[in-house]
This record gives sequence, structure tokens and C-alpha cells, in this order.
Amino acid sequence: MHSKDQISHDAYQQTADWLLSQTKLRPQVAIICGSGLGMLADALKCQEVFPYSDIPGFPQSTVHGHAGRLVFGELKGKTCVCMQGRFHMYEGHSLCKTTFPVRVFKLLGVETVIVTNAAGSLADSFHAGDIMIIKDHVNFPGLSGLSPLSGANDDKFGPRFPPMSSVYDRELRRLVLDIAKQMGVAHFLHEGVYAMVGGPNFETVAEARLLHRLGVDAVGMSTAPEVLVASHCGLRVFGLSLITNKVVKSYDDSQSVKHDSVLEVAALRSHTLLQLISELVSRMDENNNTHT
Ligand code: HPA
Repeated sequence: MHSKDQISHDAYQQTADWLLSQTKLRPQVAIICGSGLGMLADALKCQEVFPYSDIPGFPQSTVHGHAGRLVFGELKGKTCVCMQGRFHMYEGHSLCKTTFPVRVFKLLGVETVIVTNAAGSLADSFHAGDIMIIKDHVNFPGLSGLSPLSGANDDKFGPRFPPMSSVYDRELRRLVLDIAKQMGVAHFLHEGVYAMVGGPNFETVAEARLLHRLGVDAVGMSTAPEVLVASHCGLRVFGLSLITNKVVKSYDDSQSVKHDSVLEVAALRSHTLLQLISELVSRMDENNNTHT
């Protein structure tokens, strides 16, 4: 990373202070809405909405299906902040920019981050419309040296060499599995490994086969950088992938994935996803201090 891309602690603080001066709401939970999943923010009650273009220091979202608003409000009696529209590496943002909101959330007092994304499946048993609880990730940009944590470490946020072996909170994963069983949707819920690729292109057949052999269950173009930064600064993390398509793994398969069909599947499952996340938010503090 170029040092000119690095963001000073003051810059995060200034954005957080501005938001704190604009709203009395003090969120405990942040929800990052993936492609086509912006309706999660629409479910918040007593909303206070800030278009990204109005927030000092905030990056701007450029993707169709991503609204570009920060929505504060109540979900099941808990104060939340939702990113309706996230930032991707393929938009040309530096990784510091794509993860900028996460550190702002930390400074707002958020304790838990829920990330959602649209993803293609490699696992043979997954189908379009299934939901995957993210158990772990493979961060391909990170493995090749592209990390939002590159450059001088900001010790006020976290350590130079953060561990990543238990990032996705075990208790929250268990809780969502329980909730899914109670809701009768466990038959299309899985746990699995998410891989982030840079995009914006979808995968070649050879890449899909490689990911499959590596044990990746679902692939997408986001999430890992935000999770990395959230975990670095001590936030509790939970992640869901909505499987919008099966990744083509055969040269004989004439299907190809399109962004519009990703949005269509997202719309189809939006209600279930919202119910799962609402219940999670409602019950996440049942057994307090379950950080693992
Ligand atoms: N590949 C990468 N990203 C995606 C896909 C995919 O097949 N589907 C939705 N996001």
C-alpha cells in the first residue's frame, strides 16, 4: 500500500464526531448490507439517514444495487447502524477506504459487526437461494499482500500482528443455526468458507476449480477486508453469504452468471435473511461475554 493511501486516526475520529453530533442514536450493532440486501436497512425503526455524500470523509459507492446511505435506527429494540451500500476494491478504492466505515463504527461505540454479501457457490451441495453462515475466509488479496492493515500500524485500533484464527464468533454462529431450525429454514442454511477475490470479473472455469479444490464453499468480491479491520479493532464479527448462483466449474456448462440475476436471487431471499438477522440482533446478548 502507498503511504498516501493511509488514513490518520484523526480522520476516522472526525467522521465519528460528526456523526455523533448529528444523531443521538448510539449503535451497538453495525450491519453491512451486501449486493441487493439493502432492504435490511429499510427494516430499522425510527430511522435517521445520512447519504454517504453528506458525511465528511466518507467514500462514495458506485455499484448498481448499492444505495450509498448510512441508516441509524432500532431493530428489535437494539440501536443499529446499517451501511446500505458498501465499498469494493474493484471500484478503485484503496483497501483503507473500503474499510473506513468499520473503524468509524468502532469509534461510535459499536461492539458487533454483521456482514452480509452475495456470493457464488463452489460447494456441490449448495444452491442459488441458500444461505451460508461464514465460518472462516480465504482472503486472496490479503495473501498476495493487499491488506487494509498494511503500512504503519495504528496501535489505538489494534496490534501490529493480529491473529485471524477465530474471527467469526462461534456463539453467534451457533445462535443463528438454532434460530434457523426454529424458523424451519435450516434445510437451506449451511456453514462454510468464503473466499474473497478482487473482481470485478466473475471466475474462469480454471479459477473455479482451483477454489473448489482449496476447500472454498462460496466466493465473492467483498467482506474479508472489513472483517479483518473489524477483528483487528476488537469488534465481534458475524457473517452471512447469500448464494446467488453456482459458480461454473465445467467447460460443458453454458450458463454464465450475471449481476442482475445476483440481485434477483437476493430479492427472493431478502425476507428470510432479514428474519434471521433480526432474531440474531434480538438474542445476541442472551449469554453475555461469549466472545470466542
Ligand atoms: N463470483 C464472485 N462474486 C460473486 C459471485 C460469483 O459467482 N456471485 C455473486 N458475487
